[in-house]
Amino acid sequence: MGKLDGRVVIITGAARGQGEREARLFAAEGARVVLGDVLDAQGEALAKELGEERARYVHLDVGREEDWTTAVAAAKDAFGSVDGLVNNAGILRFNELTGTPLEEYLTVVRVNQVGAFLGMRTVAPELEAAGGGTIVNTASYVALTGMAFLTSYAATKAAIVGMTRVAAMELADKGIRVNAMCPGAIDTAMTNPAQLDPDADPAEASAAVDELYRKLVPMGRIGRPEEVARLALFLSSDDSSYITGQPFVVDGGWLAGVSVF
Ligand SMILES: NC(=O)c1ccc[n+]([C@@H]2O[C@H](COP(=O)([O-])OP(=O)(O)OC[C@H]3O[C@@H](n4cnc5c(N)ncnc54)[C@H](O)[C@@H]3O)[C@@H](O)[C@H]2O)c1
Repeated sequence: MGKLDGRVVIITGAARGQGEREARLFAAEGARVVLGDVLDAQGEALAKELGEERARYVHLDVGREEDWTTAVAAAKDAFGSVDGLVNNAGILRFNELTGTPLEEYLTVVRVNQVGAFLGMRTVAPELEAAGGGTIVNTASYVALTGMAFLTSYAATKAAIVGMTRVAAMELADKGIRVNAMCPGAIDTAMTNPAQLDPDADPAEASAAVDELYRKLVPMGRIGRPEEVARLALFLSSDDSSYITGQPFVVDGGWLAGVSVF
């Protein structure tokens, strides 16, 4: 028996990174998954690998209202109903506050913040119609503490935690639980862009990232995407049946405090 037997879950940004791990784990735990992304070739390939009984890919730019309508229709067409959502899609831009162009700021808001808003707004009525369900939003460590050069990103992730609390209150009586994950540094292309560079030496890039996080994180290493996927599973399954409206930090102890030694 899987922890998500019989469930149908839409996962955004599922073509790679944490979303891919969530898709694999949720499918292994019995869910049927609808993978949304803008990386069509990668998303299609993953859905094919997971199999038609388990997975579908749909082109879903999370900042576009009409894409959400199409994604929900595709999910219902394939699997009958939807009772779970993982808002995982996100982008990151580094820039100092005074050098951030408005266009860049709004680009990040459109994907991270508007994307999570549209996802919850579009999918919540489907979860209600299915008799209840779960929403897991992907915020960040920087929703809860500061990090220089991340004004746009930090703003959107704090907004996600805020929206999570409000949605949890409004949707509780419909049997819908809404929680947020706040990952620290996780080893994906977002934190380690060398993963996408065919000319980069993966061992060298990993060693540089390892060195950095050995010093910063009490557990002495960067997190793995499957460690975030397991939190998403917990928050999507009955194991978390009395939990809603909360941000959950998964960061190897990074946020616990500073160390002077
Ligand atoms: N990697 C980290 O250290 C870290 C830390 C905290 C939070 N996060 C958050 O975790 C989530 C997953 O990131 P990741 O680490 O797997 O990075 P990633 O860059 O590997 O994956 C992000 C995914 O989102 C997709 N995406 C981007 N724009 C999209 C759009 N408009 N519509 C649909 N999909 C879109 C990308 O194509 C990609 O598949 C993001 O929300 C990110 O902000 C990551």
